[in-house]
Amino acid sequence: MTIHPNKAPAALVHGGQLNQMAELYQIPTEQWLDLSTGISPTSYPIPEIPQDIWQQLPQPSKSLFNAARRYYGTKNISATSGSQAIIARLPHLFKHYVQKNITHIDVWLPQVGYKEHEKSWRDAGFNIKQYQQLPSGEELTQHAIVVVINPNNPTGKLQQQPTLTALLKKIAALSGWLVVDEAFMDVIQPSQSIINLTDNKHLFVLRSVGKFFGLAGIRIGFLSANQYWLEKLKAMSSPWEVNGPAQFITEQALNNQQWQSRQQQTLITLSTQLEELLTATFLKPLSKDAEIKISISGCGLFKTLIHPQATELFQSFCRQGLYVRLCDEKNALRFGVPKQDQFAKLIKLLAQHRHS
Ligand SMILES: Cc1ncc(COP(=O)(O)O)c(C=O)c1O
Repeated sequence: MTIHPNKAPAALVHGGQLNQMAELYQIPTEQWLDLSTGISPTSYPIPEIPQDIWQQLPQPSKSLFNAARRYYGTKNISATSGSQAIIARLPHLFKHYVQKNITHIDVWLPQVGYKEHEKSWRDAGFNIKQYQQLPSGEELTQHAIVVVINPNNPTGKLQQQPTLTALLKKIAALSGWLVVDEAFMDVIQPSQSIINLTDNKHLFVLRSVGKFFGLAGIRIGFLSANQYWLEKLKAMSSPWEVNGPAQFITEQALNNQQWQSRQQQTLITLSTQLEELLTATFLKPLSKDAEIKISISGCGLFKTLIHPQATELFQSFCRQGLYVRLCDEKNALRFGVPKQDQFAKLIKLLAQHRHS
């Protein structure tokens, strides 16, 4: 058997595997408090869907495009079956239309971050480089590709617009690509999105409908890029990739500004409450020495606790029926935002871990 040490494992582990956890810990699914994803616990309410939308093949929808253009503030926008579909496709787009021989092309990825990006470029044979701080101009070589998850999942680190604009300029001069994954951007105020710059042929911006709108199950997302790339991607995709009901629901969600501002407020309130609870449980009052090792970061859709006993805490939570995400580095736990009526249960479950 040939072993490829440079290859990522075939499938990555994410949150949202409640059935598996229920079996592993022998606790029925309905008894768990599942905070294992960064998907909003309050979702856009599903409207009644006309029968013909179920019955017909999905068609490109002008009204969805108009809604997306307004919501995202750019005409360079195209619906995809989740932003994940684009993550999987970008390396192939590059190989097809930029350069075939890619073994020497550097792809810079955040050391900590949603690992599907790395898997996708690595599996396609690119040269993977990891960064803690964004690479400097001197580090970038011809055709360099830089992936930024903004804000980062799970660290919550947010790059500001001017930083990314300056980076884009350097990358464009090298005929490279800047890929910005803004899956969690909808909750950031004021927005640091750079989606308005996608006339630039060296920039790709990914947006998710799953997180802020709480609609991960319908599998729809958006890509913003220069029209040249949107057309190439369309040519690479198979017909009917985005189903009709998803298009119908998303159009309404993107047009409903009243719901969006209520959702913003709800998520800010809930995530602040979560952060306060985690701070009271794990951080305060602690000696200065212990405090250095423990920290809380995140955004309006999740909070991440860096903790030296992350693995032990994760296992102990699971035995209690509390499912959070043990981060890939095993040094942190990401808590999705609970619904208001789930806080009492969470407070009770965390009580025994106070200052552990
Ligand atoms: C940072 C990030 N980007 C993209 C995705 C993919 O989301 P979706 O395909 O639902 O848009 C995820 C999913 O967890 C994510 O965490």
